[in-house]
Amino acid sequence: MRDISMHVLDIAMNSIKANATVIKIMIIESDETIRLIIKDNGCGMDKETLNSVVDPFFTTRKTRNVGLGIPLLYQNVKRTSGKFNITSSLKLGTAIEAIFNRKHIDCIPLGDINETIISLILLEPLIDFIYTRKNSFKKYVLNTKKIKRVLNGVKINEKEVIDWLKADLLNFSMAF
Ligand SMILES: Nc1ncnc2c1ncn2[C@@H]1O[C@H](COP(=O)(O)OP(=O)(O)OP(=O)(O)O)[C@@H](O)[C@H]1O
Ligand SMILES: [Mg+2]
Repeated sequence: MRDISMHVLDIAMNSIKANATVIKIMIIESDETIRLIIKDNGCGMDKETLNSVVDPFFTTRKTRNVGLGIPLLYQNVKRTSGKFNITSSLKLGTAIEAIFNRKHIDCIPLGDINETIISLILLEPLIDFIYTRKNSFKKYVLNTKKIKRVLNGVKINEKEVIDWLKADLLNFSMAF
């Protein structure tokens, strides 16, 4: 994976497969670290799955016997001497936290996080995404549940709405 935003897309795909209806994505930046949190209300994992989840030879998918999404993220975090944590409860959901040391020479860039958020909304317009990005000065929140309420029946994946969301994301990310 070349950047953190691609990991976000990949990890959020797990939440989608786990039938989550709400997916929270947080990017918290400081001078030293980029902290990523992805939390869902999907099916969760049992203890056995959870314990093996950073092992690249573990997956519950039938088509391929190697699941790489989580191990690759783990590897990229550990390369920066960062921290990685997963908590999960069956029927309740899963939370993944990854802290990259951004000053480490092996730290991958953030990449196009706006593009990732838009892709997820287009892919799963019925799921609610709560995306937060913040640093010590600023905080931005995009909550599709609130946006849908305002849209009053207009679909969130309609071109005009997506263009507006793109502009809003871009406008704010200029400040970062
Ligand atoms: N958010 C989640 N909710 C429930 N189960 C999860 C979640 N994330 C991961 N899992 C479980 O952990 C396994 C490993 O996930 P991982 O992303 O590493 O690989 P994969 O999704 O199986 O394959 P790949 O990501 O390479 O396409 C999944 O197959 C699934 O059983
Ligand atoms: Mg996966």
